[in-house]
Parts: sequence; structure tokens; C-alpha cells
Amino acid sequence: MKIAIPSEIDEGEPRVAATPDTIKKLKGLGADVVIEAGAGVASGVLDSEFEAAGATIARTKADVLKDADMVLRVRRPSTAEMALYKKGALVIAIMDPYGNEAALSELANAGVTAFAMELMPRITRAQVMDVLSSQANLAGYRAVIDAAAEYGRAIPMMMTPAGTVPAAKIFIMGAGVAGLQAIATARRLGAIVTATDVRPAAKEQVQSLGAKFVAVEDEEFKQAETAAGYAKEMSKEYQAKQAALVAEHVKKQDIVITTALIPGRPAPRLISKAMVKSMKPGSVIVDLAVERGGNVEGAKAGAVADVGGVKIVGHLNVPGRLAASSSGLYARNLFAFVEILIDKNTKTAAVNWDDEIVRATALTRDGAIVHPNFQPKTAA
Ligand code: NAI
Repeated sequence: MKIAIPSEIDEGEPRVAATPDTIKKLKGLGADVVIEAGAGVASGVLDSEFEAAGATIARTKADVLKDADMVLRVRRPSTAEMALYKKGALVIAIMDPYGNEAALSELANAGVTAFAMELMPRITRAQVMDVLSSQANLAGYRAVIDAAAEYGRAIPMMMTPAGTVPAAKIFIMGAGVAGLQAIATARRLGAIVTATDVRPAAKEQVQSLGAKFVAVEDEEFKQAETAAGYAKEMSKEYQAKQAALVAEHVKKQDIVITTALIPGRPAPRLISKAMVKSMKPGSVIVDLAVERGGNVEGAKAGAVADVGGVKIVGHLNVPGRLAASSSGLYARNLFAFVEILIDKNTKTAAVNWDDEIVRATALTRDGAIVHPNFQPKTAA
């Protein structure tokens, strides 16, 4: 059984789908692991370390991928790369399937069985494979660090002989995995932290981290969580009430970090141009949802925008800004998933199509798109 790890093609992607630690574990499952030369460099892993862990280094994509039974990647492969895959190969990556139906058809046409790591169900057994959590956790941390770096003042209160520096006020919008880590990080830096979310379960989590919860807590709010634990899209009325409350609060903040997402939908708009304008010059907003349409009006993907003296940070691929850490966790997520796709006795790939983890994540199989959420719309 050959497992291939090509380097990422996307320029903004420094992560890699394996670490020396996971290479050893994959070898332990009986796999031959081939990794493309230089694949780990941007994550701080040299070819020699992969080799020492038991991987073979190959110079070209063709050599890496030839006859591979499994391909592990960070992002969805390019068309050119798909042409190098063996029919029936298992290809596992963060596939970004929503709104990318054409790319899913290409994967189907390539004859591979493609799995999307971000569709991992949120069940206990799959927690170790939950890439959204592992990456969001680091993104939440990094958002606070990026905000602190852009902010022209200190975060903690400092009492010095020359006077007192006040503590920064930091408001976190969206208290999921990223938001909760942002709260914890901001607290550690000594900020006065408040947070909001539309899911009622978030309130207690926010408070347990020592932050104050700010939200309109009406009847709709009490119902605002799906069985999978995600946010629902809120009614126009709720959004208006919440926006009014948030507008008053945002005025008084030094740093705002937005992390709000709704799976499969554009990110909700939480900060309007007027709210940005109401903030003091020198304030900083970090929009972690910028890749999904953005929570903040005026945020520019991949840039730090200056809007009337307020900086809006719109970095892309925030987990990639901590590539060594994010690759480490992602590679662990991948390994845990690969483990359930391998028959330990025969040491070959063996997909159990009755497994709910497999069914939830499989996008394509035998030339067709098999995931119910991404079926091509056929004319009746
Ligand atoms: P996410 O990345 O989809 O969204 C981030 C946050 O934004 C969520 O908390 C969401 O409620 C919030 N949000 C959406 N619209 C909003 C709005 N208009 N205003 C304010 N906030 C808004 O969510 P994430 O971080 O992936 O986690 C969602 C939940 O799932 C969390 O409670 C988390 O603890 C839980 N979870 C459960 C796991 C399990 O295995 N059981 C694993 C990971 C997370």
C-alpha cells in the first residue's frame, strides 16, 4: 500500500499533510510513504526528517503519485495533479466543497474516492479527526496575536511610575472553537474581554473563560442551535435587535475579533461600515471569516485595510500563519482518519461504507459524486 504526500500547489498554503510523527505511524500500519521533496519546508520540516521517519522522498509529482493507493493533502488537488492519480485512489484533503461543484465533478471524473476532512461529523469518535476544530483553535489564538501586533497600545493594564496604561477592551464575536480560544488568549494577555454568539450554549462557555456575554437573549436565541451544534441563520428581526446592541458595544471597544460562520452559507455580516466608523482611530478589527465572505464590511481578503484610522485585518489562511503547529494537528487528524480506512490484517486500504464517518465525508466514488449535499442538479 502506497501513501503519497505531494507538496501543496497553492502559494498561500504553507501547511503539509504529514509530520515525521505521522509518517512513523503510517509506516506502522504497513504503508510505504512517499513525500514530495520540500513539502514540509514551509512548516519547518526538512526532507531529512521525513526520511529519518521512514518516508521516501521523490522529486516530481509524477513519482510521488504513481500507483499511490492513498493521497494525503491539505487542499483539494489541481486538475493537472488529478491526471496523475491511479483510478480508485483514496484522496483526502480539506476539499472546500461548498459552491465548488465543478471541482467535485472533476474529482468524480478522475475516478478517485475523495474525502473532505471538513465534513467530519461532530461525534465523539471523530473528535480526533476534526480538522475544523484543530485549525480554528489555532486561528482563534493567532487572531488575537495579529490584533495585538497591529494595535498601537499595550493590551494589559500597566501601572508604572510614569502613569497607568489602561487594559484594552477586546470583543469576540462568535464563540465557537476559534472564538473561545481567542477569548482565552485575550484574557491571558490581560484584556477586558466580552463575547457574543447566537447559540445559547455559548453563554456558559464564554463565562467559564472569564469573559462577559453580550447578546439579545429572546425566545429565538433560546432555539438557535442545530442538532449538530452549529448556528442557524437568524431571522431579520433578531439580526436587527442584535445589531443595535452590538453597535452600542462596539463603539467602546479597542479590538474586535469576528469568527462567525454558518456551515455551507456565506458568513453573516456582523459589523457594518457605520460600526467601523464609530470606533476610535487606532482600534483594530480582525475578520477571521474573510475567506467565507467576511463578517466585517470593508474587510479586504489577504490585506490589512485602514478605514478612517481603524485597521481591519483580513489575513487569509490564518492557521497557515502558524504552519508548524497547524500542520502538526492536521497531520494527526488525517492519521486518525486514515487509520479507519485501512485493514490492519491485510495492510491494504479497505473502506467500510457503513461507517458513518466514511459516509459523512465521502464526496466521490466510482466516477460519481456520492455525497447527498452535493448531488448535481439534474433536469427532471
Ligand atoms: P463555526 O466555525 O461554524 O462558527 C463559529 C461561531 O460563530 C459559532 O459559535 C456560531 O454559533 C457563531 N455564529 C454564527 N452566526 C453568528 C452570528 N450571527 N452572531 C454571532 N455568532 C454567530 O462553529 P465551530 O467553532 O466549528 O463550533 C460550533 C459548535 O460546535 C461549538 O459549540 C463547538 O464547541 C461545537 N463543537 C463540537 C464538537 C464535537 O465533536 N462534539 C467538535 C468541535 C466543536
